[in-house]
Amino acid sequence: MPNDRGSWGSRPGFILAATGSAVGLGNIWGFPTQVGQGGGAAFVLIYLVAVIFICAPILLGEVLVGRYAQLGPAGAVRRIAPTGPWWVIGLLAVAAGTFILSFYAVIAGWTVQYLWLAVTDGLASDARGSGELFDALSANGSQNILFTGLFIGLTAWCVNRGIRRGIEAASRLMMPLLFVLLVILAIRSVTLPGAGEGLAYYLRPDLSQALNPEIIGAAVGQAFFSLSLGMGALITYGSYLHRSHAVRSASMAIVGIDTTIALLAGFIIFPAGFSIAGFDPTASGPGLIFAVLPQLFATLPGGLLFGAAFFLLLSVAAFTSTISLLEVPVAHAIDQWRWPRRKAVLAVGAFTFAFSIPSVLSFGGGFFSELPAVGGTFFNLMVNVWNEWALPVGGMLISLFIGWRWGARFAGDELRRDGPGFPSPALWGFLIRFVSPTAIFLLIVFRFVG
Ligand code: PFF
Repeated sequence: MPNDRGSWGSRPGFILAATGSAVGLGNIWGFPTQVGQGGGAAFVLIYLVAVIFICAPILLGEVLVGRYAQLGPAGAVRRIAPTGPWWVIGLLAVAAGTFILSFYAVIAGWTVQYLWLAVTDGLASDARGSGELFDALSANGSQNILFTGLFIGLTAWCVNRGIRRGIEAASRLMMPLLFVLLVILAIRSVTLPGAGEGLAYYLRPDLSQALNPEIIGAAVGQAFFSLSLGMGALITYGSYLHRSHAVRSASMAIVGIDTTIALLAGFIIFPAGFSIAGFDPTASGPGLIFAVLPQLFATLPGGLLFGAAFFLLLSVAAFTSTISLLEVPVAHAIDQWRWPRRKAVLAVGAFTFAFSIPSVLSFGGGFFSELPAVGGTFFNLMVNVWNEWALPVGGMLISLFIGWRWGARFAGDELRRDGPGFPSPALWGFLIRFVSPTAIFLLIVFRFVG
């Protein structure tokens, strides 16, 4: 094994780090934003179906591939299939890690600025003020370049320290705290006057909406993004596991925790949002949580403290995710090109930072806020390409690779090493061979036709 790879201190260390990768802005920022744009409860329903039937089997599969091969995506694929077109999985992984990080860090930069505002009592408490604050903050190009760069720099520093010391330690403390805070906020939100309307929007699906291919596509893409799936992040994390570590229950736990936290975020945003007069979830876009949350904090005794704690924990959740995004291309450079870790981190970090600038300048009438060729902002283009297309396509390729190239028998043997449990190798084999790839394939076809 190349020297610079590293490994987890323990199996709980893996669970913590993988959950840290999964839980992030995708849950707390992305999920409510997408529910708002995708018509409410119908989106939630499709999301849950996608998580259970499409994503969970792939997640377990990624971890198994990593543990088996003890290599990141490109190396693992080559070890199992030295010939054939499967190397595209490795290529996609490196590209997705790098490019997703480039726009993810922009939102992470906002959360750090909101943390600062909360600490310095700079948050607005009414609807108008909150909206204006977000507009002004996101339009400030130079400041956002600074905070995005800061976030990428911190991530690079941590990834450079290596697996055990950096990533595991950062996840350990903050995740349970984040969960407790989210529960408190959700309880406050659902007990606000007028919360019922928000709950209905969030929980009562309009089934005519559920059959819209665009909403289905967005929901499936969001499920992949939220679970850090389809780009080999979990192959990479699985590769730092010892071969004797069991992964089945850990994988199911990661799916369960990630989904619970996304759902909790919805219970916070929609009841609170609808309790505010004139709230329109569709119109808010990427600013949704930043406009709603400060008003929710204002209803709490000691609201400022809540605000500060919330944005601190959200920044940390984002941080444990950016670490995994950067770790994928870095592991690739270490495994495949024999680069030292430091060189890999510097090169990928610098590229990502440069590429984040157009995403920063997509807001507030910046240079990249209206691209005629794509009919929207550069930032939206990135979210669309990577979340809604690249990750599901990557997931389809990975499921085909595991189910048909590695083969149900060998993959099943790898799962059998864990002893009996849920899902059984037969059930899992069926899902990953037939259900996941077919569902994604049909989705892609329908979106092209629709
Ligand atoms: N799952 C992360 C989130 O929900 O915020 C985002 C992410 C991290 C996606 C790592 C992909 C990845 F490899």
